[in-house]
Amino acid sequence: MFCNKTIMITMKRLKIVALMAVLGFFASVVSVKAQDPAEGEQIFKNNCTSCHAATDEVVIGPGLKGIGQRRPIDWLVKWVHNPQAVIASGDKYAVDLFNKYNKTQMSAFPSLSEGQIKSVVAYIDAQAAAAPAPAADGAAPAAGAAPAEGSSNGGMMQYIMVALLLIMVLVLIALLSIVSSLSKLASISPDAAEAQNVPLLKRLAENGKKLAANSAFKTGAALLITLLIGKATIDAAYGVGIHQGYAPEQPIQFSHKLHAGQYQINCNYCHTGVYKGKGANIPSANICMNCHNSIKRESPEIQKIYRSLEKDEPIQWVRVHNLPDLAYFNHSQHTNVGGLECSNCHGDIAKMEVVQQRSTLTMGWCIDCHRKTDVNTKGNAYYDKLVELHSKDHKEPLKVQNIGGLECSKCHY
Ligand code: HEC
Ligand code: HEC
Ligand code: HEC
Ligand code: HEC
Ligand code: HEC
Ligand code: HEC
Repeated sequence: MFCNKTIMITMKRLKIVALMAVLGFFASVVSVKAQDPAEGEQIFKNNCTSCHAATDEVVIGPGLKGIGQRRPIDWLVKWVHNPQAVIASGDKYAVDLFNKYNKTQMSAFPSLSEGQIKSVVAYIDAQAAAAPAPAADGAAPAAGAAPAEGSSNGGMMQYIMVALLLIMVLVLIALLSIVSSLSKLASISPDAAEAQNVPLLKRLAENGKKLAANSAFKTGAALLITLLIGKATIDAAYGVGIHQGYAPEQPIQFSHKLHAGQYQINCNYCHTGVYKGKGANIPSANICMNCHNSIKRESPEIQKIYRSLEKDEPIQWVRVHNLPDLAYFNHSQHTNVGGLECSNCHGDIAKMEVVQQRSTLTMGWCIDCHRKTDVNTKGNAYYDKLVELHSKDHKEPLKVQNIGGLECSKCHY
């Protein structure tokens, strides 16, 4: 009896320890998720760099260096979700800032979650920490900046820690109540002598059954399993074959925002095949040299172009969009014949510092557009007969699906 009891108690302790470990694991996951500088970098680069730098530099809006210290996080979340609303509310800081920046309106980002905004702040803080202290300012401000950052991060961490502590205490209470009800069950077993005769394994199994029947335990277990399955499913869904959001680092820091955006160089100046052929083409170093044999020669990034030409080795650009071999896609069919804009499929590349895949590029994506999109028949004599035939028994205009855009063989070799 004594022996069994000790085992039972040890088991209970073990369970508590195991649960604590699982919770600890979640805690680490949650805290990383809450402010992930890598995620923040992505979000910042995709949404904010057109107007903000992570440094002191003013682009269109103010430099965001030190923003985590300058404004409380609640304010930042409200601001990013809807700057106009904050200004309209009469918030003095916002109104002053708005006037200082000549009443330039910042875009609203209602879809960014609080966690994502915190990640952006974490990224900006990390950038400031990584940047060397400016020599002119001397050592003092740099030394002052470090603890300030620490404290803001510390503040965040504290909230998370307190929340986790609360959860742990609740779980502990639940566990203790399970333990006490179990020991009650054990003590009212009809015959101690009989109980002693029952083999240890069987007793353990019975205790297991009782535990399983306990509703608090059931809900807890169900919650844990749901969380685990949910996380696995989300990870898997993002993992398999779909690369939406993929934005690899390139060997040269080539910026579309600068070239296609600020300097308005036509897409087909570089992507020479995009209106003529199947592939759009990635420009060779020679095309870069049309300009860079005189522009910014001294830049280390431009030096990389020279090196590639000297060695006669093409620049190893990392491919962003990539359909599997089984699918056939033709650019000129869509841009030239179909009259679509690049942004219909690629998003606004002229605003991207680093190219990012914006569409899923799945079969469903192609088909969906073919179902919805009218064929651009204007001024195309080739379609005149078809349109005439089509409008005889259809009210709707000719869609891509009506010209065979859903036929397997059109897209598969
Ligand atoms: C279209 C340009 C534009 C974009 C895009 C933009 N902002 Fe702004 N932002 C501004 C301007 C301009 C201001 C100055 C206030 C004003 O004029 O409304 C500002 C102010 C701010 C401020 C307050 C700065 C301070 O010094 O207190 C924060 C924080 C901020 N933006 C964050 C962001 C974040 C985060 C993103 C990306 C998710 C973003 N902004 C995208 C233009 C932009
Ligand atoms: C000055 C030359 C230049 C201009 C102009 C230019 N691009 Fe690019 N583009 C490049 C280079 C170089 C790459 C490969 C490196 C990279 O991905 O950033 C590229 C890559 C791309 C990619 C990704 C290719 C892949 O690997 O899947 C797309 C999409 C793209 N450009 C679209 C555009 C659009 C749309 C425009 C016009 C708004 C444009 N480009 C204008 C040079 C240019
Ligand atoms: C039609 C002219 C033109 C072409 C073609 C062109 N660029 Fe540029 N590029 C510019 C201009 C203008 C700048 C901005 C220079 C400045 O900031 O003073 C620039 C800046 C850059 C920079 C930033 C350099 C730095 O250190 O600030 C890089 C990197 C660059 N280009 C790479 C390329 C690559 C790679 C290609 C070929 C795929 C290319 N460019 C083709 C005009 C061009
Ligand atoms: C109907 C959708 C669609 C439109 C419109 C479109 N693209 Fe693409 N683009 C794609 C797809 C899909 C791929 C991937 C092709 C592959 O992997 O075979 C791609 C790939 C690219 C690439 C990588 C190199 C290549 O040829 O595979 C570049 C560069 C590019 N597009 C530029 C452009 C530019 C510039 C425009 C506008 C003039 C444009 N695209 C319009 C769907 C589109
Ligand atoms: C943004 C809308 C859009 C998307 C996305 C799109 N297409 Fe299209 N597609 C069109 C339009 C519009 C046409 C009609 C062009 C024309 O007038 O011939 C077309 C035509 C075609 C055709 C010729 C059909 C025929 O019978 O003549 C093929 C093949 C095709 N698309 C393949 C693809 C593939 C593969 C994808 C996905 C990787 C894709 N398309 C994605 C709009 C789209
Ligand atoms: C408008 C273009 C288009 C049409 C029409 C089309 N497909 Fe696809 N299909 C694609 C593209 C693009 C992919 C690759 C998608 C990916 O990698 O996720 C694909 C992938 C596939 C795959 C491979 C799926 C996988 O998981 O690798 C099969 C099988 C397939 N298609 C069958 C068909 C059949 C059967 C039809 C006719 C009923 C058809 N497709 C019609 C564009 C098309």
